[in-house]
Amino acid sequence: MSALDISVQRRPDPATDDRLAQILAKPGFGVSFTDHMLTVDWTPDAGWHDARITAYGPITLDPATAVLHYAQEIFEGMKAYRHADGSVWTFRPEANGARMARSSRRLALPELPADDFVATVDALVQVDERWVPDAEGEKSLYLRPFMFASEAFLGVRPAKHVTYMVIASPAGSYFAGGLKPVSLLVAEHHTRAAIGGMGAAKTGGNYASSLAPQQEAIDKGFDQVVFLDAIERKYVEELGGMNLYFVHDDGTIVTPELTGTILEGVTRASIMELAKSLGHKVEERRFSLDEWRHGVGSGRITEVFACGTAAVVTPVGRLAWQDQEVDSSVAGDAGPVTKQVRQALVDIQYGRAEDTFGWMHRVL
Ligand code: COI
Repeated sequence: MSALDISVQRRPDPATDDRLAQILAKPGFGVSFTDHMLTVDWTPDAGWHDARITAYGPITLDPATAVLHYAQEIFEGMKAYRHADGSVWTFRPEANGARMARSSRRLALPELPADDFVATVDALVQVDERWVPDAEGEKSLYLRPFMFASEAFLGVRPAKHVTYMVIASPAGSYFAGGLKPVSLLVAEHHTRAAIGGMGAAKTGGNYASSLAPQQEAIDKGFDQVVFLDAIERKYVEELGGMNLYFVHDDGTIVTPELTGTILEGVTRASIMELAKSLGHKVEERRFSLDEWRHGVGSGRITEVFACGTAAVVTPVGRLAWQDQEVDSSVAGDAGPVTKQVRQALVDIQYGRAEDTFGWMHRVL
């Protein structure tokens, strides 16, 4: 049970039905935000306090606020789904809460108890319920809990004032191209994280460091960048915002093992269980770029897909490194295992299939 007492101050001027309908018809990703936001403050003496839901809007920060200088920040990504009967659900929120607690420890931020995490997300979804899109077109309400060092202080030490917030944004497909295979360029001059670094934490710094190589990939005509391990520059890690899966010709699927440098994706972990239940053998192990390119070339690897909360399950097509390239799309489309895994996952999320794993959490 959460000990937080969340006050709610509803805004007097929520979005009109017309404006809301317009946004929900074509939500895009991360561009429109709901009427409200949730905020909780933390200090060493008072702990977590003053939990409140207020009108969504800009926040004022002192120019010396620590997060602006030293990036002491973490976040989560999750979604609320509307089922056909009108009920609203989140997917494994306690897994996101547990990961946020792990990220807190790495970034020297205070831990928000898992029950409080779930309660805050539920509370915002309940207040902004009309922003949860209908299920058709696989839309959802993307939820972004985040925590940052809000103390105005330029010394380098863990902040003594921390702010936790949740904002929400209706979401369609993360990629403008929908379910079309994405193209990837291997990062040859940049790595994302090294052992002992903060690669496993969901912190803004990891995403900031991915931006230059990501932009390089876009400038060269690719959708995303693939990061390799920082020591041997040989093993595949992740895409910066998505984990990877490799489907083999015998139905085995392989995902790079967690070595502290890869984000511990909730979707990644769920697919591991789901794929096993669908009869696939699943392996978590080191997976080299050579194994990828030779495997696609020889037919041993039949499909590659990326996954994440925002991207769900997204097929991978072209993979390029130096001046070479292979294509693991199936005639320019997603392959059958990618489609099967994706369908099984979204059917649970949207309440179209029985949730035998106990993953769904009812909010409304
Ligand atoms: C997510 O999938 O929710 C992410 O956090 C990835 C990205 C949008 C930052």
